[in-house]
Formats: sequence, structure tokens, C-alpha cells
Amino acid sequence: MEVKRRSARVVTFGCQMNERDSETIMGILSSLGFEESPSVDDADIIIFVTCCVRENAENRAFGNLGETKRLKERNPHLVVGMCGCMAQRSDLREKVQARMPWVDLVFGTHNIHRLPELLQRVFSGERVIEVWDEPCEVVEGLPAMRAYSHKAFVNITYGCDNFCTYCIVPYVRGRERSRTMEDVVAEVGNLAKSGCVEVTLLGQNVNSYGRGLPPRPSGVSPDFADLLYEVNSVEGIERIRFTTSHPRDFTDKMVVAAGSCDKVCEHFHLPLQSGSDRVLDMMHRGYTAEKYLGLVHRIRDVIPGASITTDIMVGFPGETEADFQATMDMVRQARFDAAFTFIYSPRPGTVAAEMPNQVKDDVKHDRIYRLIDLVNSTAGEVNDELRGAIREVMVEGPSERDTSVLSGRTRTNKMVHWTASKEHKPGDLVRVRILEPRTWTLYGEEVMSGGELDV
Ligand code: 5AD
Ligand code: SF4
Repeated sequence: MEVKRRSARVVTFGCQMNERDSETIMGILSSLGFEESPSVDDADIIIFVTCCVRENAENRAFGNLGETKRLKERNPHLVVGMCGCMAQRSDLREKVQARMPWVDLVFGTHNIHRLPELLQRVFSGERVIEVWDEPCEVVEGLPAMRAYSHKAFVNITYGCDNFCTYCIVPYVRGRERSRTMEDVVAEVGNLAKSGCVEVTLLGQNVNSYGRGLPPRPSGVSPDFADLLYEVNSVEGIERIRFTTSHPRDFTDKMVVAAGSCDKVCEHFHLPLQSGSDRVLDMMHRGYTAEKYLGLVHRIRDVIPGASITTDIMVGFPGETEADFQATMDMVRQARFDAAFTFIYSPRPGTVAAEMPNQVKDDVKHDRIYRLIDLVNSTAGEVNDELRGAIREVMVEGPSERDTSVLSGRTRTNKMVHWTASKEHKPGDLVRVRILEPRTWTLYGEEVMSGGELDV
């Protein structure tokens, strides 16, 4: 009789940090003999990797955890676990502990490496809740089950020391720690050997990479520019991306490094948050609108054709209509290729949550609609300039809606769809002429040979 292998499903909320953590969690589960289950319905273990950056992320995770009660009734052997950023918050963890007795395991962002032992205890009948308030040294060498073979996330820093007043991240991801350049480069090298062609370097603030690392022979610690040059020299890698940048710490040396390294893609995700100096100051962002715009111009001067995307928040405490108009003005001036827009969500424990003058919900909603309209029309105009251009596109695979259509990304990180005239596998680089640019996606045709490549 064939013995069914036990299966596990990891459900991820939130950012790329969590996606990367999920790969480690699935890697550990796989090393313990679990295979990946295609859905939660027939998994023997379900682990939720949660996010608490905004209240709606929390609500979705709670909703999902709630639904596992029904699965557990059907399969009493099912193990339900919760980890990630929500688990680091004692109030949320206690809520799960008290109100969701069917959740067997809670662990945090700092003790993922302890999962084998924690699971052992769960299997022997214990309800295990283990969260560390502080991180230990960076743990290297954990297994990972990568989501893709042609592209990969590579952590360069963990945690965050910025303490923007609205943000929960420093409280749930701990103090900033950098991996050594040797460890990062070795990981990228191994990925390249296994066929990976694109890496995305991950950190809450990639531009502060290296702080606290031992000095190099030159007497200073390596910085993000040094790391870019090193990663750029790894054979087999075609594209290097990174996220997230902090405008305050993005030095000119880094702009020059990004421009000089041929594999570094011409895309910069530079969260603006607000265009008002008064609000930026209350947010503790460490730059002014003018300084931000100066960086945008410098990047575009050094790297012609670079795309710049951003995060913008409306309704920060005390934000007036004039502050909001300053944000709208920045969108017009910076001409973003795309922007993620958010309504400020008070996070318990952060400085901004306690500020007076919280903005009313209807005002926040009114502002976000106006902002989205402007962002979309600017992005549409920017993309329209690509009509007729030929771009190098990395194939991702068939489009979700229509499998005869391939989708991929330009170096500037724009999604492109084209009708497949030839078979391609994920990671292939092809040339596509843009025929129909839209706000979020470009539609084109594959160009078989010749044709000038602009970026
Ligand atoms: N409310 C709304 N948006 C937030 N972000 C971070 N914290 C909050 C919050 N409390 C946004 C920021 C950040 C992005 C990842 O999420 O714009 O850049
Ligand atoms: Fe969410 Fe921030 Fe945690 Fe990422 S680091 S999962 S965005 S709370």
C-alpha cells in the first residue's frame, strides 16, 4: 500500500519579506518530510505568515484563521500555525490564544529556525506559543523551497531602525541587521548555478545595508553600492532588483553604482509617503519634498529611462487639505510610473496612533479617490510614451486570464502581455514591441530579430 506523504500549506500575507520567510518555512517543512499541498483543504499542516502593517491585513489573517476551525472539525489531526508580524504583537497573539483554541502553534519572525523543535512539541500534544521579542544573530543556512526557479528574493538586511511614526515594522521585525557580503554573494552564486537569472535584494531599507558590519580593509563597513558591484559580478545573473529604498539614505554613490552595474534594472521603488514637508517631518522620514525630487531627477539624469514607483499615504494625523495638495503636486512633478496608495491606519504602539487630529474616515476616503485618479492618469501618460518602443522582457509565463498570452516584465518592472508566437519558458529574455500601453499593463508583439533596444 502506498503511504500518503503528509502535506503542508503555507499561506502568506504582506510583503516580500514574508514571501521569503514562507519559502524558508516550506523548506523546513519539506526537510521534515512534508510535501507542498496545493490548497488548505487537504493539508495536514497550515501555517499563516501574517502581516500587521495596516488593519485590513490583520482582519484578513484573522478571517483565514477563523475558517480553519471548520477544517479542524473535519480533520482533528490538522495542525494550524500562525507566525509572522502579527505574532510579534502581544495583543494579537493573546487574542489568538484566548479566542482560537484550535490554533496549535504560534511563533514569531525571530525564531523561524526553531520550527522543527516547536512542531515536535505540537505533535506530542502540546499547544506551543513561542515568540522572541528580540532577534538573535542572523541565522544562515536554513533550507528554502523557492517559489520560482528563474527568480529569487535574497535578504540583505533584516529588521528596521527607522521608526517612521506610523509604522509597526520596527516593533515586529526588530533592529536592523545586515548579512555579510560574502553570505549574500554566495547565495546569489548558488542561485545562479541552479538556473536563477533574476534576484531581488530585500531589506526594509536597502540603502542602509552594511551598517554595523565589520570594516573592510579600507577601514569602513561595506555599503549598498559596494554590494551592488559584488552582486553584479555574479556570473549567470541577468537582472538585479532591490526593494525597498529609503530616499533619505539613497546616496549619490548608490545612484552611480546602480547606473554603472549593467545587471541592475532601471527601476527604483522610492516610497514618498507625503509631499508635505510638515507631514514628512511628523512622519520622521528625514527628507523634504525638494530633497526627494532632487533624488528623482538625479536618478533620471544618471539612468535615462529609469522608472520610479512609490508608496503614498493619505490621512496621516493632522494632514490638512493643503498638505494633501502638496502630495498631489509631487505626483505631478515626479511623474511616477506607478504608485501604491494607502489610507493611514493607526497601529497601536506607534507614535502616530497617539497623535491628536486623527483624520476622519470620510476625508481620508475622499483624498484617496482623488489621489488614485491622479496617479492613474499620470501613469497612463508615462506609459503612453512607450507606444512603439521595443523592450527587453523577461518571460514570467502564460497570463492568468488567457494561456495563449504570455506575460513578462521589462527591466523597468512594467508588466507586458503579448500573444505567444513561439514557446518560451520563465526567465527567457525576449524583445517585445509595445503596441498598446495601458495604465498598469503594456500590450505588445514579440520582435524576432533586429530592432533597436532602448533600455
Ligand atoms: N497605515 C497605512 N499605510 C502604511 N504603510 C506603512 N504603515 C502604514 C500605516 N500605518 C504603507 C507605507 C509603506 C507601505 C509598505 O505601507 O506607505 O511604504
Ligand atoms: Fe507586513 Fe511590514 Fe511585516 Fe512586511 S514587514 S509583513 S509589510 S508588517
